[in-house]
This record gives sequence, structure tokens and C-alpha cells, in this order.
Amino acid sequence: MKTLAFPLSLMLALSAAAAEPKADAPELAPGRALFGQFCANCHGPRGEGGTGPNLTDKIFLHGGSKEDIAKVISQGIPAKNMPAWSAILKPEQIAQLSDFLHAQIGLNLKTPEAPKLVLSVNHLPKGTLEKPLLLRSFVEAYDLDATVLAHHGLAERSPDYNPATGKETPSKLYPLLKGLPTGNAVNFGDRLSYVFDGTECRLLYAWSGGFLNMKDYWGADAGGERKGFNYLPRMEGKLFFMTSGKEPLAIKGEEAAAPKFRGYRKVAGAPEFFYDLGKSRVHLLIRPGKDEGSLVCAYRIDAAPQGLSFTFDDKVRPAISCDKGSWQGNVLSLSAAEATAFSLTFKANR
Ligand code: HEC
Repeated sequence: MKTLAFPLSLMLALSAAAAEPKADAPELAPGRALFGQFCANCHGPRGEGGTGPNLTDKIFLHGGSKEDIAKVISQGIPAKNMPAWSAILKPEQIAQLSDFLHAQIGLNLKTPEAPKLVLSVNHLPKGTLEKPLLLRSFVEAYDLDATVLAHHGLAERSPDYNPATGKETPSKLYPLLKGLPTGNAVNFGDRLSYVFDGTECRLLYAWSGGFLNMKDYWGADAGGERKGFNYLPRMEGKLFFMTSGKEPLAIKGEEAAAPKFRGYRKVAGAPEFFYDLGKSRVHLLIRPGKDEGSLVCAYRIDAAPQGLSFTFDDKVRPAISCDKGSWQGNVLSLSAAEATAFSLTFKANR
């Protein structure tokens, strides 16, 4: 008997050691493999945590004994999104998993930080010929003259306004922003970009070789670094057309009135703007011309029973041709029939 005592206690000691293998012990391989297959998605590849909690620390809300762990695995915690595995895994597999997890307790692997939400903004949005891009944006006023921007009130300055009292202080005036707030900037890829202004209802300028860099306006990646008051989008590319002078379009028999922007619809992807001039509804679709550095303004005008005329500024006239009507100097006249649909082609004037 005595001779047996020593080997028996040694065997017990060995089996006690075998009951607490190290986390990387080979006998835990089946549990580790099952974990990788069924659990890693939520708890991380090594149990370090993910959407499910870290299983390598010593914090076990539902108990840290092998039995507790096996129970959680088989029954799950449905209210907290921990699935029940008893229908999927055999009891021996659940035991292998709980052996593996139990051995991992105290490893304290670091839970990876959740990836930070980064606002990803492409500051250089672009359209294509087939799918033009329309951005309603602040835009540069460049050196457009005051007659072009007649309805913008650019000569005015805005008085200080106190939201608490609702009062304005007319003696305290702020300079107006440099940009125009009602730009409809449209891009057809590198071929053509233009700005149609929603206040003047007018093509202001056109460029090629890029569109707008929105960084100062939209801010940088992390949602900041917007530049104080100087947040106009910067133009990319090269201006080739700039308008000038008074609104050229006059409907015969209509008194000159401020244009009223009504909206736009898409025609083969490109915006067709419409606005009212007195009682006439004007539709204007602007697309790239046949040649580089040109554009076509396709007009449709609903009610111009006596026809219409365009009187172009000297700086603009040489750039323009029309598929209808007759010219006298800078004045283009169209009959009522011609006014229903015609196209102006604009070439570079700078
Ligand atoms: C869909 C995601 C998901 C999957 C897959 C998943 N778990 Fe969980 N698990 C959780 C969540 C969430 C909790 C936390 C529940 C709570 O807060 O009570 C959790 C808790 C646990 C706990 C209890 C932890 C504690 O603090 O007591 C154990 C043990 C556990 N999971 C083991 C597993 C095992 C083993 C597997 C694979 C067979 C597995 N989990 C698969 C989401 C998951």
C-alpha cells in the first residue's frame, strides 16, 4: 500500500496540473478552434473582445467557473445578443470551449479600440458627361460687375443683429461675404463646369479642367479646419467664359421684372433650370458644346407671343452665336415661333 501512496499522490498532482493547462496548451486546441469558428466574430480572434466582451480578463458577469461558462455558452444571454449554442454545438464541444476560455482567464489581452468614426469627405466632387453633378453652393463672385449681380444687393452691408433682443443696430455694419449664396454649380467632368445663379437666373461663368475644391467650405476630414469667413469653394481649372453687363434677355411686351427662380428638372442627367420673367416661363438647359471650351444654352420659352431679344454686353457678344433669329450689332431678335426653342452657343471670351 505504502508503495502505492507516492505514485498516487504524484498522479493526483499531475491530474491537478492537467486540469489547469496553460492557455496555449495543446489539449485546448479543439476549444481554440471552435472559438475561432463560432465566437471570434464577436469576441475577437483570441477572446480579446469586440462587440462581445473581453473573455481574457477576470470580469465574468455570469460567473467564471467552467460550469458557469458552459451554461452561458449553451443558454446564451439573448437579451444582450449573446447567442445560445446548445442547438448548434454538442455538449462536448461546449465543454471544450469552456475549458479553453477558463484557461484564458487572467491573460488580460488588450481589447482593440473601436475604430474611430472618421468623416470621409471627398473635397473634389466630380460629375461626368453622362452624369453631371449639381452642387448648390456658395460660389466666387470674381470680378462680376454690379449690373450682373443687380438683384443680390451686394452694395448693401448687413447690420449687427442681436438674437436676444431681436434688434438690429444699423450703425454697426458688417461687410458682406465675398461669395454668392445662390450658385448652382454644375460639372460635366473636366470638359465643362458652370455656375448658374439662382438669384439672377443667369449663367455667370464657365470653366474647364476641374470643378470645385470644397475643402474650405465643407471642412477637413475630421470635421474641422473650416476657414473662418473665407470658406468659399476654390475653383479648379481655368475660367473660359465670364458674363458681363445687364440681363440680356427681354421678352417683347413684358416689362423688365426681377427674375424668379422656380427650380430645375433633370434632362438626360443634366439640370434644366426654369424661372419666370414676368408672365413667361423660361427653361434653360446648359450642356458642353461640340468644341472644347464651349457650351450650349438650350432655351425653351413658354409665352413670348411677340418674340424676344437678347442685348449682349460688348465683352460677351463676340463669344455668342445662335441657331435662330437675326442679329443687329449686339442685339439678337427672335420671333414668337423661334422663341419656343433655340440654342445659344458660347465660346471663350477670356
Ligand atoms: C453575436 C455575437 C456573439 C457571438 C457570436 C458570441 N458571443 Fe458570447 N457574448 C456576446 C455578448 C454581447 C456578450 C455579453 C452579454 C452580457 O453583457 O451579458 C457575450 C457574453 C459571453 C460570455 C459571458 C461573459 C461574462 O462576462 O460572463 C461568454 C462566456 C461568452 N459570451 C462566450 C461565447 C462563446 C464561447 C461563443 C462562441 C461559441 C460566443 N460567446 C459567441 C456576443 C457574442
